[in-house]
Amino acid sequence: MTREKIRIFDTTLRDGEQSPGASLNIKEKLQMARQLAKLRVDIIEAGFPIASPGDFEAVKEISKTIKGPVIAGLARAKKEDIDLAWKALKYAQKPRIHIFLATSDIHMKYKLEKTKSEVLNDAVKSVKLAKKITEDVEFSAEDASRSDRKFLAEVVEATIDAGATTINIPDTVGYAMPVEFGELIKYLKREVPNIGKAILSVHCHNDLGLAVANSIAAIENGARQVECTVNGIGERAGNASLEEIVMGLYTRRDILPFKTDVNTVEICNSSRLFSRLTGLQVQVNKAVVGKNAFAHEAGIHQHGVLKKAQTYEIMTPKIVGIKGSHLVLGKHSGRHALMRRYKELGYELGKEELDRVYAIFIDLADKKKVIFNEDLEAIIDDEIQTVPEIFQLVSLQVVSGNKTFPTATVRLKKSGSVFQDSATGDGPVDASCNAIDKLTKIKGKFLDYSIRSVSIGREAVGEAFVKVKFGDKVHTGKAASTDVIFASAKAYLNALNKFLSKDKSKKEIEGF
Ligand code: KIV
Ligand code: ZN
Repeated sequence: MTREKIRIFDTTLRDGEQSPGASLNIKEKLQMARQLAKLRVDIIEAGFPIASPGDFEAVKEISKTIKGPVIAGLARAKKEDIDLAWKALKYAQKPRIHIFLATSDIHMKYKLEKTKSEVLNDAVKSVKLAKKITEDVEFSAEDASRSDRKFLAEVVEATIDAGATTINIPDTVGYAMPVEFGELIKYLKREVPNIGKAILSVHCHNDLGLAVANSIAAIENGARQVECTVNGIGERAGNASLEEIVMGLYTRRDILPFKTDVNTVEICNSSRLFSRLTGLQVQVNKAVVGKNAFAHEAGIHQHGVLKKAQTYEIMTPKIVGIKGSHLVLGKHSGRHALMRRYKELGYELGKEELDRVYAIFIDLADKKKVIFNEDLEAIIDDEIQTVPEIFQLVSLQVVSGNKTFPTATVRLKKSGSVFQDSATGDGPVDASCNAIDKLTKIKGKFLDYSIRSVSIGREAVGEAFVKVKFGDKVHTGKAASTDVIFASAKAYLNALNKFLSKDKSKKEIEGF
């Protein structure tokens, strides 16, 4: 069977990053972009350069660093957006300007306050402008699924004539049904005379839980690019999940004559990296990457799987890169073995990083009999800080119990000097954070707080995630340790350091 290629356009770093709580700093975005290149997606949408200076820098850095995939940057149909997008994208090996403009009556009337002919004119003008700058131009008709079909076809034809090489049809509000959305794609293929000159793409949101079904219906009717995100992250209920589309096409290749270039064994690593970077865990029963996706609980199922995996397994855990929890290295293992294991997990360590991580590993191996891959990942994420450690937690001592007043003594380091103070609180975490507040003279308000064990056993490494409001700014923080109180205090400090390095002027910090 000849298989047509489906291009995978990953928008985790743009639409995904717009999701509440998913914001990443530049270093984290670069780390994720490297992983997406390893996953072999065709296009990485790196951000929306005009949205913020941080977005601009991230698109620029990704363009400079990541080789292989096309790097796309989003722009409204405006000259200033297009010019700025290009300023960030011009370093890329394969740059793409992605322009969007709404075509539905409701968006044109209430959001844009423009007539159909004005929208058509702006769409054509902006594509022509981008085309003068670069060859690869994508045009998205926002809210296409709720647009008047005839008008949509007119815009698609005109933007292809203006030079768009990819035309994207978004189901922006996740409203379409699979049969209807497939029909829309078929309609455009049939009615737009020059449709063969561009790649037809779709971009589905998941408000009714149909983003993947709609994407696959679109592919069956002529779409050859799908826009999707790791873990299905994205605005509101999210975008179509990359791993579900890719594995759906692969697993049902008996009836779907398509292929992707995705390196499926990197799916699990990509999902876990994104969760670790953002603190947003996927639900346990999430298709393909959930913790239970390959767990067989019922005795009758276990029996069947042991005899022949295919009785209840339609794909193997191995193909999506699930290796299971390996028992690794003990306290007598050397640096070399540790470095090799990290390499297998996808981390390249420099000498200095290895020295730091090795010291923590030996310390952990003293406390914990068995160390799992998950423990090693938690150590490295904690150690390789992507945020400048303006305040560093040197030590924490806590007195707590059901018959005592929780008290914490904290030692913090800043610019080479160590400061110490104590405080009480409603529990050991509250006491620790109060002591930190006393030292830093900045008080954060917890909006969210969770601890989870990264592996198994009572002595497992615990990972703490916090979402804290400082003034009107919200930052997330994370840290890991076998001592969950220490991890919580460190996570709080991580959020504070993000706030200080991002939102406060240097002058104010130096006033400490
Ligand atoms: O959902 C949407 O319509 C979008 C466009 C910008 C492609 O994200
Ligand atoms: Zn979207």
